[in-house]
Amino acid sequence: MLLIAHPTPIQEIHDARLEQAGVRLLIKRLGLVHPLISGNKWYKLKYNLLAAREQGCETVLSFGGAYSNHIHALAAAGHEYGFKTIGVIRGEAHCPLNATLQFAVDHGMRLTYLNREDYRRKASAEIIEKLKAGFGYFYLIPEGGSNALAVKGCAEIVSDIDESFDVIACACGTGGTLAGLIAGLEGKRRALGIAVLKGGGFLSDEVTKFLQMAIGRQYENWQMVLDYHFGGYAKTNAELIAFIRQFETEHGIPLEQVYTGKLMYALFDMIARGEFERGTSIVAVHTGGLQGRSSLS
Ligand SMILES: Cc1ncc(COP(=O)(O)O)c(C=O)c1O
Repeated sequence: MLLIAHPTPIQEIHDARLEQAGVRLLIKRLGLVHPLISGNKWYKLKYNLLAAREQGCETVLSFGGAYSNHIHALAAAGHEYGFKTIGVIRGEAHCPLNATLQFAVDHGMRLTYLNREDYRRKASAEIIEKLKAGFGYFYLIPEGGSNALAVKGCAEIVSDIDESFDVIACACGTGGTLAGLIAGLEGKRRALGIAVLKGGGFLSDEVTKFLQMAIGRQYENWQMVLDYHFGGYAKTNAELIAFIRQFETEHGIPLEQVYTGKLMYALFDMIARGEFERGTSIVAVHTGGLQGRSSLS
């Protein structure tokens, strides 16, 4: 099984606000790594799919909400690399399926649903046993695709950057991608995570846990920024939407409201507030997430 990342460009953003602050902003266009397995999802899945193949598992099962980018990516990856896939979806089935779940089904994924209470206990032995009874032997990937092998994959995002930089930043949902960037930095330079959910204080503990699981050590050169969630996961406001529209028009790079829009808004705001020294080069990791949709649809 060949899992080779297509080279993804790094694009410098030219903007008066950056010039004024004396800061360089480069965007690593990870979203272009694969047409359907976009961005960080590709890196998270890489070593998990290799492990599933090595263990002789033909079926990969994972969890997600009805709009999960990870479920979308897993279905596409299963289709491309010859795995059966099962998506365990939070909540009740809705007919017709939304675009994410319809895509998953069209790419061969079987869907099953857990009510919210069972979904909270999805990692418990009881629920896993029930799933095994229903679906047989499978390779399990946690919600959001984040585990030790995902961190190992995301560490390669850093080695795939051939520009010099001081700070690397990404949007955080589970913290797995940020843990990978921190592992990839090996203690040099700085990593910043922008939490996209409210009450994201727990995310720092998650990152610490992922690092321990993946590389068995900790680093100090990173920070979780909690001030740019816009009210919570997938919440937005007119200011964020206006920022995204303007950014897309000026720079021709699509953003969405859940992850990459908040990342970019946060960086521009922090730059304007003088939080980066003059001369700093920042790489913003564009983690994809649009799957062919236009950003604000
Ligand atoms: C586009 C996009 N960006 C960022 C993230 C957040 O990644 P993580 O859950 O590893 O923090 C996700 C979720 O996988 C995503 O789909």
